[in-house]
Amino acid sequence: MEDDIAQILIPGDEIQAKVRELGIAISHDYADRRPLLVGVLKGIVYFLSDVLRAITIPVSIDLIAISRFSPEREHTGVVRFLKDLDEDIQGRHVIVVEDLVDTGLTLGYILKNLRVRQPASISVCTLFERPQHRIIPVPIRYSGFRLPDCFVVGYGLDYRERYRQLPYVGVLRAEILGITQHCDERI
Ligand code: IMP
Ligand code: MG
Repeated sequence: MEDDIAQILIPGDEIQAKVRELGIAISHDYADRRPLLVGVLKGIVYFLSDVLRAITIPVSIDLIAISRFSPEREHTGVVRFLKDLDEDIQGRHVIVVEDLVDTGLTLGYILKNLRVRQPASISVCTLFERPQHRIIPVPIRYSGFRLPDCFVVGYGLDYRERYRQLPYVGVLRAEILGITQHCDERI
């Protein structure tokens, strides 16, 4: 599997250091509010479990699973909930935890859906983002890394359901992806 990686973009130790920083920031900001972390399956399980262990205040978690309508509605951001929240979030302080926010379409739809349920507050924590691709403005309070314009895998991010378990974020070899990417700068 590691032979399929052309380049490591963000090493595992940098990811772990950033995840700890995010956990400390959340612990500080939500000190007396017992937040509910809502993760979007499946890619989130890696980041969620690491950031949870960096949070030092009482916190609960819940999970949703979505699927994008495809192919003709792929870019509308409309998603279907395959698994909804277990908990009622009315009056709760919700933090939506995402692995990667790109266009913001998926997250925008999720936020719209969750806001209807009247949480006391809702914020977003994403480990990776590409602000340069944003179509829908989404309020991201905590952000780990900005990614360049190339497709990456690892630490939860997949290519056809593979490579999620890599401890780093890397770029696939051109033969695997079917396209050549130039991915040398971090922004
Ligand atoms: P968007 O913000 O609605 O455009 O969608 C972001 C989602 O697209 C992420 O949660 C990923 O599932 C997927 N995605 C976008 N870019 C990448 C990538 O480089 N590698 C793996 N998945 C990606
Ligand atoms: Mg995803």
